[in-house]
Amino acid sequence: MKNRKTVWITGASSGLGLHTAMALRDDGWQVIAGARSFNERPDAIPGVTCLPLDVSSEDSVRSFCGKASSAALPDALVQCAGMLVLGSCEETETEEFRRVIDTNYLGMVRMNRAVLPLMRKNGGGKIVLFSSINGLLGIPFQSAYTASKHAIEGYAECLSMEVKPFGIQVMLVEPGDHRSGSDKYRPHAAAMDSRSPYAAAYDSAVGRIHHDEMNGSDPDVLGRKIAKTLDRKRIPFRRRIASPDQHLAVYVHRFLGARINAAILRSYYIRKK
Ligand SMILES: NC(=O)c1ccc[n+]([C@@H]2O[C@H](COP(=O)([O-])OP(=O)(O)OC[C@H]3O[C@@H](n4cnc5c(N)ncnc54)[C@H](OP(=O)(O)O)[C@@H]3O)[C@@H](O)[C@H]2O)c1
Repeated sequence: MKNRKTVWITGASSGLGLHTAMALRDDGWQVIAGARSFNERPDAIPGVTCLPLDVSSEDSVRSFCGKASSAALPDALVQCAGMLVLGSCEETETEEFRRVIDTNYLGMVRMNRAVLPLMRKNGGGKIVLFSSINGLLGIPFQSAYTASKHAIEGYAECLSMEVKPFGIQVMLVEPGDHRSGSDKYRPHAAAMDSRSPYAAAYDSAVGRIHHDEMNGSDPDVLGRKIAKTLDRKRIPFRRRIASPDQHLAVYVHRFLGARINAAILRSYYIRKK
């Protein structure tokens, strides 16, 4: 199809990445999607080119970009690949922190380093980075994830200023809870068990996190909002897609003192029995 725009999207085998890939396809984009499990399931998404991609491996990123480039250069790159490890700051192993940062943050860095030269040569492009409400505020027992998303927020500000002269626009997507995520990508830190000094607080917080995600917003709506936003000539730097109470939590965090904010969040996540 002539003049059809091409988007490359990471983390498209599940959750918000999958819903966004389908919405972009339905909107007329040529979609080239990457995820590790596409190795075994190259036909996973009808009408979408699915290629193996592990964003934590330089070789895999290089191979994905080589194969995707021979199909079509990207007008847009959407980065959704992500995971988290649930656990206390004290008991989450350094290696567990490293895995989360390596996937969520350095995975984006790797992809951008590979795609930016292509977009510069092409005269521009759009880069969409999936952050989270956790990129703006911390919640207990999600420190590795929260740190990775805060890193993305700072990185995106630097990136957008550097690439603007090349016609490249950057957008952060900050989803609140959506009922899309899979427990497969939310393992508990190995040390978290009933003997942990944090066990009661941890169980309370994990129960709340799980409940909020199960009762979260519709992932299809998010996919369609992103597809609609990407159609615009100019895209916003931030696109928060969250429920009213999560928007409120961000304002409370920004405008009330740290002590009040922590007290509200603690009482929300850590219930006394
Ligand atoms: N769901 C929510 O409520 C929510 C809220 C805020 C932000 N987000 C963000 O939205 C994005 C999607 O999350 P989700 O919860 O909707 O999806 P999810 O079901 O947790 O899926 C995670 C996706 O990331 C991919 N992935 C994980 N590690 C990867 C790696 N090393 N290389 C390539 N792909 C990898 C997985 O594919 P393979 O296993 O096939 O590689 C899968 O497609 C994440 O960035 C997440 O932080 C989600």
